[in-house]
Amino acid sequence: MAELRGALIGCGFFAVNQMHGWRDIEGVAIVAICDRDPERLKIVGDQFGIAKRYTDAAEMFAGETLDFVDIATTAPSHRPLVEMAARHRVPVICQKPFAPTLADAKAMVKACTEAGVPLMVHENFRWQSPIQAVRAVVDSGEIGTPFFGRISFRSAYDVFSGQPYLATGKRFIIEDLGIHILDIARFLLGDVSVITTRTARINPAIAGEDVATMLMDHVGGATSVVDCSYATRLATEPFPQTLIEIDGSDGTIRLAQGYRLTVAGKSGTVVSNVSPPLLPWASRPWHNIQESVVAIQQHWVDCLAKGIEPATSGADNLRTLALVEAAYAGAESRDPVSLESLLR
Ligand SMILES: NC(=O)c1ccc[n+]([C@@H]2O[C@H](COP(=O)([O-])OP(=O)(O)OC[C@H]3O[C@@H](n4cnc5c(N)ncnc54)[C@H](O)[C@@H]3O)[C@@H](O)[C@H]2O)c1
Repeated sequence: MAELRGALIGCGFFAVNQMHGWRDIEGVAIVAICDRDPERLKIVGDQFGIAKRYTDAAEMFAGETLDFVDIATTAPSHRPLVEMAARHRVPVICQKPFAPTLADAKAMVKACTEAGVPLMVHENFRWQSPIQAVRAVVDSGEIGTPFFGRISFRSAYDVFSGQPYLATGKRFIIEDLGIHILDIARFLLGDVSVITTRTARINPAIAGEDVATMLMDHVGGATSVVDCSYATRLATEPFPQTLIEIDGSDGTIRLAQGYRLTVAGKSGTVVSNVSPPLLPWASRPWHNIQESVVAIQQHWVDCLAKGIEPATSGADNLRTLALVEAAYAGAESRDPVSLESLLR
């Protein structure tokens, strides 16, 4: 099979992981990169040996023949860049948050659908191997029908030094991190009908909320709590681990700190270590995220080859982004928010 020719737009902090990921995947070559900042373009171009470099995405689309484009910029640029890819009939991956508003995201899905191009959101958290291990236990029926979940991410890790923009936005933890945790809740327990949200800002040096607690009714009948904090000083810093509790009619699953998975189910209790591998280019504590980048990008290549929709397609991600919008609306009103009207 001919090698897929990809391009990457946005050569910032996180894109380096995506570039490593592409290098690890067989049958793919990143043939061009783009960043409006020449310094970032040079750093990433030199590190990965990419000769074709553009400071303008429109010029890149005009000058290259591409099988896909990977957009790793921050949210404000996502809609124009995805729409540009659609106009050029180039399949497109877009980083999370998919768009600043749900209306933008719906327009992006529409543009790609009308152009007939695949669109995947780089929603990588559900691709972490410990999270996939939890999902496999749910699917096996070992704990029966899930009726309760708690998906938790609590940390005091300094995310602001690597991503300074996180300290300045009016919105912080739900939009940046909660979006992943909400997506994991959907992945494990299905879609959500109603969400109730409380937020707080503990760190006085940032503009947005750094604590969020969300109570959700899932369409299938389960109840879950998604709780996120960047103001939680623990004895052992768990960043960036997501901890999970699921109770089912016939048993329980616990994914605890240190990647310890305990399943108490129909066939007894099994404790296992589901630590993600440390890839050669990865660095702790980011290695579980870095592994998930390779997994989601491999999924994209597999979906392109088979002509099937990615698990975190643009259409799927509208449901995760709707949860983010509903959470902010509910945090302000303090009322439960129904998802149905947002998704119409
Ligand atoms: N999934 C994860 O685990 C994870 C982790 C960190 C960041 N992210 C996401 O990745 C995205 C990027 O984050 P980051 O921290 O790397 O940001 P960053 O600011 O370090 O990098 C973004 C880069 O995009 C470039 N850029 C912006 N608009 C552009 C345009 N129109 N054309 C060309 N280049 C453009 C900027 O010059 C910058 O170099 C964000 O949406 C963030 O939420 C995801």
